[in-house]
Amino acid sequence: MPQETARNNIMASNALPTPKPGILDIAPYVGGKSKSASGKPVVKLSSNESPLGASPAAIAAYNETGKSLHRYPDGNAALLREALSGVFGLPAERLVCGSGSDELIGLLIHAYAGAGDEVLYPEHGFLMYKIYAQSFGATPVTAPETNLTTDVDNLLKALTPRTKMVFVANPNNPTGSYITKAELVRLHAGLPSHVLLVIDGAYAEYPEHHDYSDGRELVDQFDNVVMLRTFSKIYGLSALRLGWAYAPAHIIDVLNRIRGPFNVSAAAINAGAAAARDTAFTQKAREFNSKWLPWLSSELSGLGLKVYPSLGNFILVKFPGGKHSAANANLYMMEHGYIPREVANYGLPDCLRITIGLEEDNRAVAKILADFMKS
Ligand SMILES: Cc1ncc(COP(=O)(O)O)c(C=O)c1O
Repeated sequence: MPQETARNNIMASNALPTPKPGILDIAPYVGGKSKSASGKPVVKLSSNESPLGASPAAIAAYNETGKSLHRYPDGNAALLREALSGVFGLPAERLVCGSGSDELIGLLIHAYAGAGDEVLYPEHGFLMYKIYAQSFGATPVTAPETNLTTDVDNLLKALTPRTKMVFVANPNNPTGSYITKAELVRLHAGLPSHVLLVIDGAYAEYPEHHDYSDGRELVDQFDNVVMLRTFSKIYGLSALRLGWAYAPAHIIDVLNRIRGPFNVSAAAINAGAAAARDTAFTQKAREFNSKWLPWLSSELSGLGLKVYPSLGNFILVKFPGGKHSAANANLYMMEHGYIPREVANYGLPDCLRITIGLEEDNRAVAKILADFMKS
């Protein structure tokens, strides 16, 4: 066809730019609500944010950054990696930072799984594993859980020659459950060496159980394990979007090749470094959670509700159904000024996830749900 005719044919078409196959099959991530339908002021307990906010040192570092907004950030986030290295005792050159751990989940899947590959995770795993797998053309695969807990045997049974990655959040969101260090080791031992195990420690600062591990020893020892962490939860820096990965050198190299050159803002680097170094503030947030998590769990159990044991900064509560359904409890809490998280999209339509709030909020939630159960 002469070039001119071909061009005319193309111009005559009304076709829209079309996304690649599979993109329109993705159900967009729905974040925790922050407003009630009526617009009445509400307390947000829907995104597992820290009720204590951020460390004053982090806020000061954030404000200080305002003086140099015209400068690009350090593309290697050296200040932050050095701070993390000092606090966690990990080599700075084996750390990479991202715009939230979400970005790092996406970069890992982008790099290691594509069309024809499977990305495996537990039944009630964090939704971004599925969304990123789909967006890079890979197939998300789930393995059944037992008692809303990651089941290592089921994950190992679900492996196929196409499995490229396994994601396990420990503790898991939205269930709050965890697997022990011994179980993580057993999971890793059952994986072929070419399968990448990603241990997502978004809530790793909270557990106090002696048999819990954030998985760093596995990253120390093996070439196919990555640990992810976030500043969005205990550090109270959700708004800045900041996460980090501890990984083998060959994976750090890959992530550094594909990430944006300035993927972490200067404000996030500076505030993150200050937050990481303020270990007294982190300890205070941990102790606060260790007091109010069992308190709220026990109050709600006392109402006859099923509260799943949680090692995070939130609880998963099962409602009996009928007029006391999770959907009605959600509406009731919203009417009374509190927003929990509906988790039907995690396959848990009978449950609500509730973040541990300030003392007055926890007390209010217990009272509101007691009234709801009497209604
Ligand atoms: C298990 C898990 N992983 C990762 C994330 C993402 O965190 P962020 O992108 O804010 O670092 C979350 C946030 O809710 C989470 O619950």
